[in-house]
Amino acid sequence: MNRKLLGMFSLLALLMQCGMPQKKTAESQAKALLNKMTLEEKAGQMTQLTIEMITKGEGFNLEVPHAIDTAKLKNVIVNMGVGSILNVGGHTYPISYWKEVHAAIKKYSLQSRLHVPILYGIDAIHGANYTVGATLYPQQIALAATFNPALAEKMATYVASDVRASGIPWNFSPVLDVGRNPMWPRFWETFGEDPFLVSQMGVALVKGYQNTAGGEYAGVAACLKHYVGYSDPRSGHDRTPAYIAERQLRQIFLYPFAKAVEAGAKTIMINSSEINGEPVHASKFYLQTILRDELKFKGITVTDWEDIKNLTDRHKIVATYKEAVALAINAGIDLAMVPMDLVFTQYLIENVKEGKIKQQRIDEAVLRILTLKYELGLFDEKLPAIESYIQPGSLESKKLSYDLATQSIVLLKNENHILPLNVGEKILITGPNADYINALNGGWTHTWQGRDTSYNSKVSTVFGAFKQVYGEANIKYLAGNTYNNHLAPSALLAASNGINTVVLCLGEDTYTEKPGDINDLELSAAQQELISIYKLAGKKVIVILLEGRPRTFAKVESLCDGIIYAALPGDEGALAIVNIVNGSVNPSGKLPFTFPRYPSTHTTYDCKYTEILNNDFQPLGFDPLYPFGHGLSYTQFSYSDMKIANREANSKDSILISVTVKNTGKMGGYEIVLVYSSDVVASITPSVKRLCAFNKVYLNPNESKEVKFSILTERLAFVGLDNKFIVEPGKFLFSVSQLTDSLNIHP
Ligand code: BGC
Repeated sequence: MNRKLLGMFSLLALLMQCGMPQKKTAESQAKALLNKMTLEEKAGQMTQLTIEMITKGEGFNLEVPHAIDTAKLKNVIVNMGVGSILNVGGHTYPISYWKEVHAAIKKYSLQSRLHVPILYGIDAIHGANYTVGATLYPQQIALAATFNPALAEKMATYVASDVRASGIPWNFSPVLDVGRNPMWPRFWETFGEDPFLVSQMGVALVKGYQNTAGGEYAGVAACLKHYVGYSDPRSGHDRTPAYIAERQLRQIFLYPFAKAVEAGAKTIMINSSEINGEPVHASKFYLQTILRDELKFKGITVTDWEDIKNLTDRHKIVATYKEAVALAINAGIDLAMVPMDLVFTQYLIENVKEGKIKQQRIDEAVLRILTLKYELGLFDEKLPAIESYIQPGSLESKKLSYDLATQSIVLLKNENHILPLNVGEKILITGPNADYINALNGGWTHTWQGRDTSYNSKVSTVFGAFKQVYGEANIKYLAGNTYNNHLAPSALLAASNGINTVVLCLGEDTYTEKPGDINDLELSAAQQELISIYKLAGKKVIVILLEGRPRTFAKVESLCDGIIYAALPGDEGALAIVNIVNGSVNPSGKLPFTFPRYPSTHTTYDCKYTEILNNDFQPLGFDPLYPFGHGLSYTQFSYSDMKIANREANSKDSILISVTVKNTGKMGGYEIVLVYSSDVVASITPSVKRLCAFNKVYLNPNESKEVKFSILTERLAFVGLDNKFIVEPGKFLFSVSQLTDSLNIHP
């Protein structure tokens, strides 16, 4: 360091000692406030109630519009000092109404002794879905199929702005549960089955939501859900027990949370269920040892809905609600999504007074909550007004939603190049999801279950988009079979008289959480029947699947000429689908999960060698209908010149791989380049392959590009016998498309 610089530093240090004013950190401000608080005020800060607790009417009525009940609001905020409110049951609010709600809440928070603002949280999981006019984007399972974290991050910045424009600073998103079990009704809320893909997409959403690059208060706090091990219940039903060994837990389910914590996620919501008999809300192991001591998470832990009470009501691990409160808070819960009673706060206070919860634990939790409130600008008079955020529903956001939808749609099958279908062709369109807006968006859309259509008047159904693109005269529509009711085959066939091509929009109705539980993964018989009836009548059959999880249909799959998996593509999804059907958009999405062939057995792509054996003695090896990473294009890509720059590496090096990809077809398009690694021999049985890197390139016809990867060797690590990640020296194979090469890792 030169002398001049040294001199400047000493001067600075001197000025600081002399008490030159410094910007106070959120934490130091929070500490000062905490020191003024009574136990009762602190307990209030740890309480989160649902909006129904401050609105007119009794109980949790999803259908009645909310109107603030000032007596309730005053009691909750001024008398009880409640620190957080969440959600909207059964409604979408216009911005003007959001403004009224927040103004009323603020009015009473200013009447409380210390004027502590309320932290409002919402499930804006694919757009600000409780705000009238806000753009809704593809759901997470569809986003994952884009393999485009950069675009997902951009989306999250838009969502954050819409959430702020609704006066809300906290979003209960993203879901980082790994979708290993398609039976689970929250599969569509995940980024699919691969922990690396989940972590890449998850980190993108965290960065976008929190949007530190966008300037002060551009972002909202992200909330990682549902920590941890929620997504693979043995029964497949929501909120039922999972049995996950620690090794698999760390390798598969914890990994994305660890990466998102590293990326600075501010809050985390806890898994409502249990792992190996231990409810996560009561577990010091998950909440303290792993989350705080190992992952070094500094933010807030919030319970899921009613999950402290559930420790007694559902899980039966304690006899009373009051004991449940002590158990959960001592395990490491900071904020309780109570959300429907006023006794939690009282029990919390009593537990502290009786010495069952230490004051220190309360202070730690409240300090985190207050720090977040400062960080989010809730105390700041300069916090921009609702109007200063861009009005939701901009053309740009719609374009982004459309782009994401086009990139998310996966062409599963295209027999004899049946697709694209020429404009001008006559088409019959039918099936339960053909003229059904909700099937495009799924759950958490305007309402929890996504069933209310009244908000969606501007969104086109698939049928509507077909009419728009192919012309009304060319499109015939038949409601046809519903999910479970059959129309007479003669009526189905009569509608196709004189028409060669039938487009069947199949899949699922909308659902969220428990109401989406199923006992059978197979696509309903009434829908499969549509495929066979039209095919046996000699029609060309194109199937469009709008569904949040893969429903099996292997017995009739061979009868389909073309199959498109559109997942839950959002408000702009219908147009994206039709533009893929007519060929103005080249499909590029790839499956972020393994599409099973059989309803009763499921194996993910990163399975073990014993699971792929296929011989006379072990004939039932891995046999999905479509593998992870599958997705066709209207053009062809060839791969050549795969090179590994450093064939002898050590466990600290990065692995440098390059490959040339060429568009050898006639249409420009995106190609997602997937790199897999295989540990040839390992002390814990290795997976046959694991995704270790991916990239996405756009190539015009005849264009080729060298795609380069620098892969951290940590991507080759697995969780060893001691339950810690290890990169074991030895040989590793890498594959990109049909090309393979290897390298050796040295100690
Ligand atoms: C869900 C969470 C959600 C919370 C608040 C719960 O039922 O499991 O994902 O964030 O409700 O709405």
